[in-house]
Amino acid sequence: MRIGVLTGGGDCPGLNAVIRAVVRKGVAEFGHDFVGFRDGWRGPLENDFRPLGIPEVRGILPRGGTVLGSSRTNPLKEDGGVVRIAENLAAGEVDGLIAIGGEDTLGVASALYERGVKVVGVPKTIDNDLGATDYTFGFDTAVNIAMEAIDRLHTTAESHRRALIVEVMGRHAGWIAFHAGVAGGANVILIPELPFDVGRVCDYIERRFQSQYSPIIVVAEGAAPEGGVPEADEAPRDAFGHVRLGGIAHWLEGEIERRTGHEARATVLGHVQRGGTPTAFDRVLATRFGLHAIDAADQGRWGTMTSLQSTEIRLVPLSSATAELKLVPESLYREAEVFFG
Ligand code: F6P
Repeated sequence: MRIGVLTGGGDCPGLNAVIRAVVRKGVAEFGHDFVGFRDGWRGPLENDFRPLGIPEVRGILPRGGTVLGSSRTNPLKEDGGVVRIAENLAAGEVDGLIAIGGEDTLGVASALYERGVKVVGVPKTIDNDLGATDYTFGFDTAVNIAMEAIDRLHTTAESHRRALIVEVMGRHAGWIAFHAGVAGGANVILIPELPFDVGRVCDYIERRFQSQYSPIIVVAEGAAPEGGVPEADEAPRDAFGHVRLGGIAHWLEGEIERRTGHEARATVLGHVQRGGTPTAFDRVLATRFGLHAIDAADQGRWGTMTSLQSTEIRLVPLSSATAELKLVPESLYREAEVFFG
């Protein structure tokens, strides 16, 4: 078989580990041939691809990013996009695709599969918000980067007796904030799932200062106070309609200073969380996803996605990738509240 591989959506550490595993097993065990489509769905849409054999995947296991490039191109929004992809695959004698991506990329994969394109999906995202898998790779790396940042902020916060606010990614899910906040010993964690009371946040901050320590507040980019924040200018949206998030830490900075009189400073971690080398956990998960994805393609089990269930990798219907967004349950969040203040 000739199989196309693509990586779509926001990149994350571990993408190259999947590509390497797919190609290494696909060539060595099954004798398949691969092409790498560039920049997510833009590749098959515009027939932009590069060779992808064992020489091309040597040495990429520890590298962050993706050697194939990524984009948020949505072929379902392009005139005749689906037909163009099907025609390009047929012209290139590509039998099927392995699409590595999050909710959006896999949503397109699922729609294409329903229209006759052969696809196997592999879930990735630092947000860890896909309901059909226990974990996505990229998440563990992002959490460790954020945790290290919190560790560093503790010491400088103490020196200056400031309240330091760390804004982390995660879109509409608070997984990164929750895990990094618990692991880093944050004094307040704010997640999108639960609108927060600014007065209560300030009480925690006062309490922390009274105990002669300086507070660290971890806030997810999608978190908001009860009643919402005053409308900012219309934020830009991507091809999937997602608004560009960010800024809540700076808003909180002003509120905390105004209400408590303590100096507050914001750190927005941003894309640092998505860059660099993957953790061991993410390398292993990504590698196992890649091995199972090529098995699925070899066995003709198109329309499926690899999923981590406890310690096993299983195949689930591709359509389940976008069926349910996995959010932080309130009961889990409440477990961490004992450390607030
Ligand atoms: O989905 C991954 C993610 O990093 C989110 O946490 C974040 O909101 C978004 O992507 C940022 O996307 P971009 O890099 O396109 O601005």
